[in-house]
Amino acid sequence: MTDAICYCDGVLHIDKVPVSEIAQACGTPVYIYSAAVMHARYRLLETALPEIDICYGMKACDTLAVINLFIELGAGIDVVSGGEIQRVLAARGDPRRIVFSGVGKTDEEITFALRSGVGQINAESASEVIQIARLAQAAKVRAPVALRLNPDIPAGGHQKIQTGHARAKFGMAVHEIGALYGQDIAGIDWRGLAVHIGSQIHQVAPYDKAFGVLAELITTLAHPVTHIDLGGGFAVAYRAGDPVLDLSDYRAMVARHFDPKVVRLLVEPGRFLTAPAAILVARVIHDKHTGNHRHVIIDAAMNDLLRPSLYDAFHNIIPIQETHAPASPADIVGPICETGDTFTRDHTLPSLEPGALVAICDVGAYGAVMASNYNARPRAPQVLVDGTRFRVIRPRESFADMIRGETDALSHQ
Ligand code: LLP
Repeated sequence: MTDAICYCDGVLHIDKVPVSEIAQACGTPVYIYSAAVMHARYRLLETALPEIDICYGMKACDTLAVINLFIELGAGIDVVSGGEIQRVLAARGDPRRIVFSGVGKTDEEITFALRSGVGQINAESASEVIQIARLAQAAKVRAPVALRLNPDIPAGGHQKIQTGHARAKFGMAVHEIGALYGQDIAGIDWRGLAVHIGSQIHQVAPYDKAFGVLAELITTLAHPVTHIDLGGGFAVAYRAGDPVLDLSDYRAMVARHFDPKVVRLLVEPGRFLTAPAAILVARVIHDKHTGNHRHVIIDAAMNDLLRPSLYDAFHNIIPIQETHAPASPADIVGPICETGDTFTRDHTLPSLEPGALVAICDVGAYGAVMASNYNARPRAPQVLVDGTRFRVIRPRESFADMIRGETDALSHQ
């Protein structure tokens, strides 16, 4: 828990607002974000890394109000699709502050990026550079291109979120970049290099190794490198005491490899900025005992928060009403028809009446954005708390929203 998300008079509050009040007004399940926490996380990073530009990795949470909050704080935005570019523009972002990464950009997406005037396209293969050159010439513009290095360094909190090892689909090998970077290709303006080795990384060492490979590569290139994108990946503590990245060590390590007076540096953190800023509030449907097992069944499910099912990720779960009643272990589960629809196992909680509220913590990154309509469940609303006020920044989906555009084939025969 953070200062902005804590118990006050026995009830969980976000900033100055009791969570129960929002659940009453908006129903459950509901995602609730703290503007104060997102501000604090951004300021923390900005202060810790003064020589490095911050580009928010919006894949962590792409709700317009959240993107706009970081834009207002001065962030650029890291995107990975045409849809994300559209979201940044809808959130009144400056296209020149967009960095467009991604291993398989379509012609439509690249053309849209070029016409929108995005600041940098990170290309991940020689064939993508040819594709970008063709589209830039057709659009009669020049494309600002960086090449993404695959340094062959394994790093990241789970095998599914490691991106920098040789077997991963991302980036290009050192020798491929050496052969391509700086070549005279019509439509291409070479801007620099990029690297992103994975997510939920808490040690400086893998970054050190990857940036070492990058720095070494740069010494072999004839063409100047003016921009270096160092990627994201900074870990957050999902359990009290989980190790996190030491930002001052990280800064010192970056300074050993690159001189910010010679090259513009940027990072692309997503999780670091948003994970601790949100909770998912759910209502208990049953506190059920089967044989020796206790299952607390709540009205949120894996369609609302996929991380525990997909990565065995841990998220703390706490009651909204503070209690000192005796607690016992329970599996906290959703109503979806899969055993994988489990948030945590053997989690110690007091007995909960149907209707009691619980909060799943640290869900601001890769939470709402990975939600689906599985089991025909509408996606939960999202609420932003700012001081004493809250507003719905994305309403709950209705049944009509869920079936929009679908047809019943029989009625069209
Ligand atoms: N830049 C690039 C090119 C990326 O692919 C990513 C994340 C980031 C930046 C931001 O990484 P972060 O700072 O958030 O670690 N769904 C997974 C995480 C997937 C990360 C994908 N790429 C999860 O829930 O853990």
